[in-house]
Amino acid sequence: MSVEAKLKDITVSTFAKKKNSGEKITMLTAYDYSTAKYFDEAGVDSILVGDSVGMVVLGYDSTIHVTMEDMVTFTSAVTRGAKRCLVVADMPFMSYHASVEEAVKNAGMLMRSGASAVKLEGATDHILNVVKRCVESGIPVVGHLGFTPQYLNVLGGYKIQAKSAQKTEFILQQALKLQEAGAFCVVLEMVPEESAKYITENLNIPTIGIGAGRYTDGQVLVADDILGKYSDFKPKFARKYANLNSIIKEAASNYISDVNNGTFPSEDEVFHLDEASCNELRFLREAEKSELSCNK
Ligand code: KIV
Repeated sequence: MSVEAKLKDITVSTFAKKKNSGEKITMLTAYDYSTAKYFDEAGVDSILVGDSVGMVVLGYDSTIHVTMEDMVTFTSAVTRGAKRCLVVADMPFMSYHASVEEAVKNAGMLMRSGASAVKLEGATDHILNVVKRCVESGIPVVGHLGFTPQYLNVLGGYKIQAKSAQKTEFILQQALKLQEAGAFCVVLEMVPEESAKYITENLNIPTIGIGAGRYTDGQVLVADDILGKYSDFKPKFARKYANLNSIIKEAASNYISDVNNGTFPSEDEVFHLDEASCNELRFLREAEKSELSCNK
């Protein structure tokens, strides 16, 4: 029996090719089957099952509350919908910090849930060891530098990073170490455009920017931001392409009115018994009534 590995149309090699040819890489987050299916059909290169799910889907105030169990559930749903693009799953807070062994085991769990790569934040010696061991084990890794949401409490809030030449150089050095460790791509979040350009030009692997200006090799945005669904906070760098917020509210309020005024459900939206069963029902009711009157 011949067994052929089923690779997606978009692979880590596509990312490298796009960097070399200067074609932009497009990435969007998604957390559910239908959104992943639509984004995939629209032609996006990659879907990130981001731990931003914690805020935009689960309603937490940061990504810190997201668990491995959550990520496995959302990654499985997305990969059932995304047939051609590359699905990257975020490793959640504390799923890769305690030990390299535990990190590789958790990364493997996300790959078994259907992801084609995992993403993790930072570039400490420990993180670099995790990256090396994952890649050695056959798990492609995306790095994440600049503003790293899982370090929110250490960074002291949602702050632009790399705001000086020295800090930009420091992030480039981190990115070079991730590249050396085997990461195939690095996300740069909330850094000045000039810093992101400098980092991008000095790396062989592609950069994907979010709030990092125009010169990264690709762009990523959060689905709920581009769809206008998440309204608790609007980042300066996010562009809204739809206003699902008001569409959802309008649909729900129309439904409520239709139920209240009796126009839902209509004849087209109900099931019927056949005539014989209707007659039988009538007969049952009449028999019950006459039995009740005899017993009086
Ligand atoms: O979780 C997420 O959505 C992310 C993006 C901000 C890149 O990591």
